[in-house]
Amino acid sequence: MFPEIEFERMKRLPNYVFAEVNNIKMEARRRGEDIIDFSMGNPDGPAPQHITDKLIEASAKPKNHGYSASAGIYKLRLAICNWYKRKYGVDYLDPDKHACATMGSKEGYVHLVQAIVNVGDVAVVPDPTYPIHSYAFMLNGGAIHKFELTFDDKFKVDEDLFFERLQKTVDESIPKVKFVVVNFPHNPSCATVTPEFYQRLVDMAKKERFYIISDIAYADITFDGYKTPSIFQAKGALDVAVESFTLSKSYNMAGWRVGFICGNEKLVGALKRIKSWLDYGMFTPIQVAATIALDGPQDCVDEHVAKYKHRRDVMLECFKEAGWDMNCPDASMFIWAKIPEKARHLGSMEFSKQLLTQAKVAVSPGIGFGTYGDQYVRIALIENEKRIRQAARNIKQYLKSL
Ligand SMILES: Cc1ncc(COP(=O)(O)O)c(C=O)c1O
Repeated sequence: MFPEIEFERMKRLPNYVFAEVNNIKMEARRRGEDIIDFSMGNPDGPAPQHITDKLIEASAKPKNHGYSASAGIYKLRLAICNWYKRKYGVDYLDPDKHACATMGSKEGYVHLVQAIVNVGDVAVVPDPTYPIHSYAFMLNGGAIHKFELTFDDKFKVDEDLFFERLQKTVDESIPKVKFVVVNFPHNPSCATVTPEFYQRLVDMAKKERFYIISDIAYADITFDGYKTPSIFQAKGALDVAVESFTLSKSYNMAGWRVGFICGNEKLVGALKRIKSWLDYGMFTPIQVAATIALDGPQDCVDEHVAKYKHRRDVMLECFKEAGWDMNCPDASMFIWAKIPEKARHLGSMEFSKQLLTQAKVAVSPGIGFGTYGDQYVRIALIENEKRIRQAARNIKQYLKSL
């Protein structure tokens, strides 16, 4: 019907690369095949009991069933600022000016971009990237400039090279770069940065006059003594930056849809304003329970981190035995694995399809995250030890057959 009516915005969205692998996975499952699924960063356990208890308790109160506050109830925004105080010693965030609760951090990010981007504005995102970091700008009429993210065997970002490339991108961009998006620990590559990285970025933002959006979704998921820095530990960050975090990963609350964006008053103000038009806030009991999650005991986070670390170690060991030697990340719930030498010529899409059809193992093809991802696949640590070992056995057979 009405072929003359076109949806221009939809044309800016490519076919989701992951959908292709996902469709093969779903068909295999429908045929009754057991697919070991490492494809999505979707935590496999339930939210901690004390958080669920709070949700139930708050749900029993009739007053909590009406429309809520779109920017988040005050107590949640206060808990967010206190989280920064406890975790990072950042004591200058004001719950009224600098914090906005969001329906998962993705909703917050997309609406923030929608609120602040003008048609033709340029944003810079390193490649590879979590897809929505670039597509939020493209969907809203912005342009994306990319440069290659480079890191060593321990997934430490080459920070000198990062700033060299960012400076070049900024220098060459017409029109001027207005926004830079960073995400460390990085999805998909697990790459990490030092606190000095953020000071350099903030200083550069002030000199070159761009805003920074930092996403620290995996801030808590770190191993072997590595600690994720926050941009707000850098002097002057509040002038130029916002940062997002989510309860999805640390607290196994992905389905609850709760996160936040903090920082620069003008940017957070724009987000709050657009949200005041678009939504009435999360269900209040979810906000009450999220407050408890951030303010309450944090042993649950330690348990989740220990689980991911164990799975990481098991995977590295048994995949190596299967013929796939992978580098060991310090952070995130993924392994960014270079495709084994003898299969690298296939590219990440074909390799992922073969892993699925021949080894019954689902991973995300690196190309879905950007051109520089094509030698890699992303493996999410969301299956248990037994299934990881089974996957290794299947992969061993598949690699032998190549
Ligand atoms: C880097 C990064 N940011 C944000 C998100 C979105 O998280 P949520 O919308 O569940 O808060 C994800 C989810 O996988 C992610 O990997």
